[in-house]
Amino acid sequence: MESMGGLKRSHSCNDLAVENVGEVVTLMGWVLRRRDHGGVIFIDLRDRWGITQVVFNPEVHADVHTKAHQLRSEWVIAVQGRVERRPPDMENRNLQTGAIEVLVDTLRILNASATPPFPLDEEVEVSENLRLRYRYIDLRRPSMANNLIMRHRAAGSVRQYLDRHDFLEIETPFLTRSTPEGARDYLVPSRVNPGRFYALPQSPQLFKQLLMISGLDRYYQIVRCFRDEDLRADRQPEFTQIDMELSFVDEEGIFAIIEGMMQKLFRDVLQIELNVPFARMEYAEVMARFGTDRPDTSFGLELVDLTETVRTCGFNVFQTVVKKGGLVKSINARGCGYFSRKDLDDLTEYVGQFGAKGLAWVKVKAGGEWQSPIAKFFTEEERAAISRELGAEENDVLFFVADTAAIVNQALSELRLELGRRLELIDRNSYNFVWVVDFPLLEYDHDEKRHVAVHHPFTAPREDDVPLLATEPGRVRSRAYDLVLNGIEIGGGSIRIHQKEQQDVIFAALGISKEEAGDKFGFLLQALELGAPPHGGIAFGLDRLLMLMAGRETIRDVIAFPKTQKATCPLTEAPAPVARKQLTELYLRPDWKE
Ligand code: AMO
Ligand code: AMP
Repeated sequence: MESMGGLKRSHSCNDLAVENVGEVVTLMGWVLRRRDHGGVIFIDLRDRWGITQVVFNPEVHADVHTKAHQLRSEWVIAVQGRVERRPPDMENRNLQTGAIEVLVDTLRILNASATPPFPLDEEVEVSENLRLRYRYIDLRRPSMANNLIMRHRAAGSVRQYLDRHDFLEIETPFLTRSTPEGARDYLVPSRVNPGRFYALPQSPQLFKQLLMISGLDRYYQIVRCFRDEDLRADRQPEFTQIDMELSFVDEEGIFAIIEGMMQKLFRDVLQIELNVPFARMEYAEVMARFGTDRPDTSFGLELVDLTETVRTCGFNVFQTVVKKGGLVKSINARGCGYFSRKDLDDLTEYVGQFGAKGLAWVKVKAGGEWQSPIAKFFTEEERAAISRELGAEENDVLFFVADTAAIVNQALSELRLELGRRLELIDRNSYNFVWVVDFPLLEYDHDEKRHVAVHHPFTAPREDDVPLLATEPGRVRSRAYDLVLNGIEIGGGSIRIHQKEQQDVIFAALGISKEEAGDKFGFLLQALELGAPPHGGIAFGLDRLLMLMAGRETIRDVIAFPKTQKATCPLTEAPAPVARKQLTELYLRPDWKE
């Protein structure tokens, strides 16, 4: 009581309404705004729950009014007074408490504040670095606080759902060995075991599989994962997964559980009813139609493969690419005939970032005529065939990229998104979920000159594709699946290998020797021989999911204390140098150059 000036809070700053008029109440919070209206001082008092206007009237309580003159932004105060109805023309309908105000008779200043490093008004743009440096001030902004409140509700909803479906929440270690997600590890040196290191988990993958082998069917955890990778808007070095694993389950079983979980989550947090089952698309199909394995299916402008159509055409660029085994794909930007030369140049430059050597374009004119620098390279029949495949009509613009499959798909998928943004085709209030299935099991790594796992090496191959392992490993499909929401991969998982023999075959295909496998994952391989049930699971990026639900552009906005793009924390200044003594204790030699 002492530290609160002998007062006791009776209500939050979001509680009071006309029903309370006449009551004597005590509120505590921060001074958001102060207005002096001809002697009467109005203060918007803010706490986590909301805002209440409190009033200091010199004619009613002169001494309290005098004291209120000192108050500045972000001072922490306690006020006591009577709830009064505001005059009708002074009501604020944007505020939950906008019909009332509190006429203050007792004011306690609980703490003064230096001038905040930036104003808390939502409209003011503040550099993110400054926001992160003073994150505790940034989190006073209602929109930021609301993201964290939403996060709390989301986690609660998921916990409730999984509890009702008989999942057990089980913790797994942070100080562990390298896990197989394929990013770089964060390492922790062991003081008591000189020269040895723990790796922070990139996910609980191996432990959750071991839990299934323990018979603890239906595990989940809302858990931090650590990956030392290049950061982007939707990547953090430490992020949170909703991680799950189930036994005696197939893809259908997992999809059904997840669709129910998403339905409840969106209902509880956003009051939105999702339609299930979610769409499903094969990897090969999404790559063909969208050029990416995380398609934004909320708008059209799909890619069309013209490789066969242009194989023998007169345009040298296309012909050469096709001869070398590359692709020629196209997008019909419908109704974009008004694009200026500059627009077209900008888009060419844009796709250049993704490796495209050019962006051929055609403006379709009356009668299907082509206006294009490349029109002259095609016969009339060839032009007609291309126009037909693209369903071209007057006023459309056709874009083409010719290159390796990887470059064509990336350049055109990015062009598609850029057109979607420019043409405002993307409605961020709609939620488009799609399961991507039938991923390839392996992909060839040109640097390492061997196949690597697309998901991770414990993912089961599709039974009917197993014979291909020996002949065409690149064509083997896996039992992995991703859930994509509005063009962002929010989750991924797989049915696992549960038999040692099959795991050996896959390690061999990955060029992982028996010794290496034994050294890295020996404990799992042994467990597979001790009664491992069929099992599978999935993990969701909780931060990404919340970013989409909160309508934010970066996951940093839904994390209380995130890192910058350079993996630093401007608030604590982590990572920080440490004393030489600490290093020597850990048997580390500080011999790097600054
Ligand atoms: P995966 O590596 O696909 O699978 O990760 C699952 C999900 O986690 C999110 N995610 C990230 N979010 C923020 N920052 C990052 N750096 C980051 N990396 C991944 C994504 C992704 O879909 N153990 C497997 C799951 C399984 O097989 O069950 C795994 O970790 O939304
Ligand atoms: P050029 O003959 O090099 O002047 O190219 C004619 C047109 O084809 C220009 O609009 C280029 O942007 C485009 N172009 C060049 N290379 C490619 C490519 N690999 N894919 C698609 N368009 C290309």
